[in-house]
Amino acid sequence: MSITVRGIDDVREVMGEIVERVEGVVIGLGEATRLIAVSLLANGHVLLEGVPGVAKTTMVKGFARLLGLLGREEVIEGVPFRGFSRIQFTPDLLPSDITGSLVYNPATRGFEPRFGPVFAYLVLADEINRATPRTQSALLQAMQEKEVTIGDKTYRLEYRDRGKFFLVLATQNPVEQEGTYPLPEAQLDRFLMRILIGYPETLEDEKRILRLHSSRLVEPVEDLESLVEPGWLVAAQGVVASHVTVSEEVLDYIARLLRATRPEVFEPVAEYLELGASPRAGIALLRAAKARAALEGRDSAEPRDVDAVLFHVLNHRLIPRVEKLIEYEEKTRYGARTRLIRDALELVRKTVG
Ligand SMILES: Nc1ncnc2c1ncn2[C@@H]1O[C@H](COP(=O)(O)OP(=O)(O)O)[C@@H](O)[C@H]1O
Ligand SMILES: [Mg+2]
Repeated sequence: MSITVRGIDDVREVMGEIVERVEGVVIGLGEATRLIAVSLLANGHVLLEGVPGVAKTTMVKGFARLLGLLGREEVIEGVPFRGFSRIQFTPDLLPSDITGSLVYNPATRGFEPRFGPVFAYLVLADEINRATPRTQSALLQAMQEKEVTIGDKTYRLEYRDRGKFFLVLATQNPVEQEGTYPLPEAQLDRFLMRILIGYPETLEDEKRILRLHSSRLVEPVEDLESLVEPGWLVAAQGVVASHVTVSEEVLDYIARLLRATRPEVFEPVAEYLELGASPRAGIALLRAAKARAALEGRDSAEPRDVDAVLFHVLNHRLIPRVEKLIEYEEKTRYGARTRLIRDALELVRKTVG
């Protein structure tokens, strides 16, 4: 691996270019695109949540292309890895459809591993909440441990020293839809961020989307070509981890924010939240803030970096208080939940900031 990333400027320049090219094919989704880039730089899995047809899958494909993952195949220590694989989650998907299984080979009269789609750099887990909890668990466990077991052998999914990362970008519909199995909070926190994708905000954006598609038969995302080798991301993650500093002041800010989300510690938040943020959530916040600083071209994380990622890192890790939830007169329970979490975090931020 001879990929060098010289410093933060390099990270900003290259990831900035990747973001710009993805933004070019997904109108009005600049913030979501930047947040995905931040997660990638922080080596964190992402959950993209929104109704069908708002370009969730398209964004993931865009990153896969620009990171040089399309059509890539590689064997590491005898195990074949794909650059990019997409798993469409359905109710009949089995755990072994994700991880792999042993198959009998009559020629050798022995069992051989068939490696599942998690053997990839980037996995698009599409509509993850349509599969059964058992199948979801297989993926979530692989995400957590970065390894899977087939038969009695355990295989690694990440080889950082060889420029091999393992990241999952999952999509799901808002959880209250029928025929879905919502991921439990305890598993949701395997995702560094949950990014909520809404409908286009303005009439103008709506028209820009139509114009972008009007004179073409293939998806604009298919025009994107690779900008870097996949190993670039591993090197860039290393630069973010080691070059971006966090002052005592920013550390203190993060710690105070965390504590203020906990009803046991900060009385006023108890009106909104049943359960606050864990130390693990704090580490996620720290990593995301550092990656965001790097994407902005800075070598120190600042409170504004923390603020910029706060909602996205914490929204799926906090449990709202049901009594408060019913006070919110939103059209959907989902909408109410989102607004409640926003309000709770606003209270937390005002108190600490
Ligand atoms: N904001 C947008 N900008 C450009 N194209 C969009 C946008 N939203 C949706 N589309 C287009 O609509 C279609 C559905 O996108 P897709 O990524 O499959 O959505 P999802 O995964 O959210 O269901 C694609 O052709 C996509 O290019
Ligand atoms: Mg999709």
